[in-house]
Amino acid sequence: MARATSKYVCQNCGASYPKWSGKCDACGEWNTLVEEQVADAMPKGLGKAGGGRKIEFVALSGVPSDAPRRMTGIQEFDRVCGGGLVHGSALLVGGDPGIGKSTLLLQATCCLAQETRCAYISGEEAVDQVRMRASRLGLANAPVQLASANNVRDIVASLEAADGPQVAVIDSIQTMYIDNLDSAPGTVAQVRACSAELIRVAKRKGITLLIVGHVTKDGQIAGPRVLEHMVDTVLYFEGERGHQFRILRAVKNRFGATDEIGVFEMGEDGLVEVPNPSELFLADRRRDITGTAVFAGLEGTRPVPADAVVFGEIGLSGDIRAVSQTDQRLKEAAKLGFNRALMPQPRRSRGDGSADGLRRVELDHLSDLLPLFQADVPPRPPRRDRD
Ligand code: TYD
Ligand code: MG
Repeated sequence: MARATSKYVCQNCGASYPKWSGKCDACGEWNTLVEEQVADAMPKGLGKAGGGRKIEFVALSGVPSDAPRRMTGIQEFDRVCGGGLVHGSALLVGGDPGIGKSTLLLQATCCLAQETRCAYISGEEAVDQVRMRASRLGLANAPVQLASANNVRDIVASLEAADGPQVAVIDSIQTMYIDNLDSAPGTVAQVRACSAELIRVAKRKGITLLIVGHVTKDGQIAGPRVLEHMVDTVLYFEGERGHQFRILRAVKNRFGATDEIGVFEMGEDGLVEVPNPSELFLADRRRDITGTAVFAGLEGTRPVPADAVVFGEIGLSGDIRAVSQTDQRLKEAAKLGFNRALMPQPRRSRGDGSADGLRRVELDHLSDLLPLFQADVPPRPPRRDRD
């Protein structure tokens, strides 16, 4: 028989303790431990006697099959997901409340719904509120199945139904609950149990599950950290609420790279893709400000790049050291019309940049820059001597 015991679980990081204390030793947060009842997951005496069945092993050698994917058509979103949404995968979209998670996922499901059975389950908003958002986005007629629900037992039954959805959005996981747990929705216990049930059914039925998770500083509400371990892909949607730009960043992806970002602009009628952020952010650049240069910083695989792009790490003694991902920086600079790259000797590089029409000027020390600029800068008019 399963035995119920008590433990104290940090609502910030999920660490558990047999006794209550004011501070969580694992994450250092104060007043985040909450008592939870846990049933022993497994009775003693497992193995064959406990009814376990032998697993059929297969050889390591074999051709792995490409994970089948669904494309939303929102290129910034599909790219960050690693090239579309994988069947039977669970994806978490985390971010501050009000940043635009619901808007992003509603837009994505409305695009997908043209070819796929999609369900949007909101535990935060009433059906009419979601309908109002959809009509603001010009998507009121998209064939998305909409529901306002919180009970995971009902949601699992609906996902398991024969005419159940192929893609389901759960907005948000903090509002969902399982009725056999005493804890309130949003606690680590509920978030963990609800996610586990939803992910299990998604895997079994090949449903793509898109889970929204709010990030708050309030220790009482479980942040999506607990969830990050359970899902296949974790995306963070970030930005300043007062500003229109939003960045979607992959921080974990079992089906793709995590060095991708997607840039969006929040407008009056929803999120609009910004396919070339470098161009956008450089549009207001004034070229006549002495001492300024464009720095090829790197976010995702797209660095931010006039004629010369400059990058490298400067040591205290003026030595210029190599930085990572030289090829990506050069590729983006060439794409944006730069002619030269002033850069350190690369640690590793696949080409010499000439293929892109970009002239490399490799530097060892800051003093190497001086002759370059002296050759570029027109001679100054002679100074008038003071009388
Ligand atoms: P929302 O998607 O509800 O955020 P989240 O789900 O992350 O809490 O977006 C909320 C904000 O976005 C809200 O302040 C209104 C704004 N917004 C727009 O500016 N344009 C739009 O077309 C929509 C739908 C929302
Ligand atoms: Mg929302």
